[in-house]
Amino acid sequence: MKHGRLDIGAIQAKKQRGEKITMLTAYDFPTARLLDEAGIDSILVGDSAGNVVLGYRDTIPVTMDEMVLLTKAVTRAVKRAFVIGDMPFMSFNVSVEKAIENAGRFVKEGGAQAVKIEGGTHVEDTVRAIVRAGIPVVGHIGLTPQTAGMLGGYRVQGRTAAAARRIVNDAVLLEQAGAGMIVVECVPAELAGLLSSRVKVPVIGIGSGAQCDGQVLVVNDMLGIAGEIAPKFVKRYAELGAAIATASAEFRDEVSRGTFPGPEHAVKMEPSEYRKLVGRARARSKRR
Ligand code: KIV
Repeated sequence: MKHGRLDIGAIQAKKQRGEKITMLTAYDFPTARLLDEAGIDSILVGDSAGNVVLGYRDTIPVTMDEMVLLTKAVTRAVKRAFVIGDMPFMSFNVSVEKAIENAGRFVKEGGAQAVKIEGGTHVEDTVRAIVRAGIPVVGHIGLTPQTAGMLGGYRVQGRTAAAARRIVNDAVLLEQAGAGMIVVECVPAELAGLLSSRVKVPVIGIGSGAQCDGQVLVVNDMLGIAGEIAPKFVKRYAELGAAIATASAEFRDEVSRGTFPGPEHAVKMEPSEYRKLVGRARARSKRR
């Protein structure tokens, strides 16, 4: 444990004990604090921030500076959870040196304990180098949104035996390169189960069925505050978007009608001070 937070060893131990691991994304201080207090094991500052909080069309435009800023807000709030910073598109693809430097920013500036990298065999050397630099790495295979264009769009991966074998191979190579945990997105449940049994490190699923060692969801999706329709695999645990819309409309109506703020929301002056204030103002206007 570092600063009282769970470390990668504590997360891995949960798999060894057969306990499920919980992970949610967060991008700001209040949400991270609530998730941490709820006992979520790991918080991912995902580059899904691009879609869900920064208003981009997808994750591609997200920059390192944006990710570091969001990670700082999250880590300021977190006391227990293991915090992972998600390396955005082109922050690890240009060179291994640049990847180490950017991974270091998540830890040094952002206060994260690990970084997540999308990709399989082609990021093996990068993963190895970052781990050698002392930073735990979380792999991300299956559907990798940063390269969705190369995968035929946002669709289930590994449906055929050949495609599934490639994903299993990715997981094994990532583990050999030192990845401490692997996120697997949008693969059939049987494949996710197979992956989990083939590697010792925890396999955290999103849209990949119940046989994984843990589950991750984008918090805005599960709370019903995503701008767009959430993917089919998301369970909505709350309808905060509807609650925010109702509350905002009520505020608009009450301010328009003059019923907010009421006397209970206002601060009053001492009557004697008010008389002095008004008296002086009146005297001044008479002099003019
Ligand atoms: O960016 C993100 O939120 C992610 C999760 C979908 C795993 O990568």
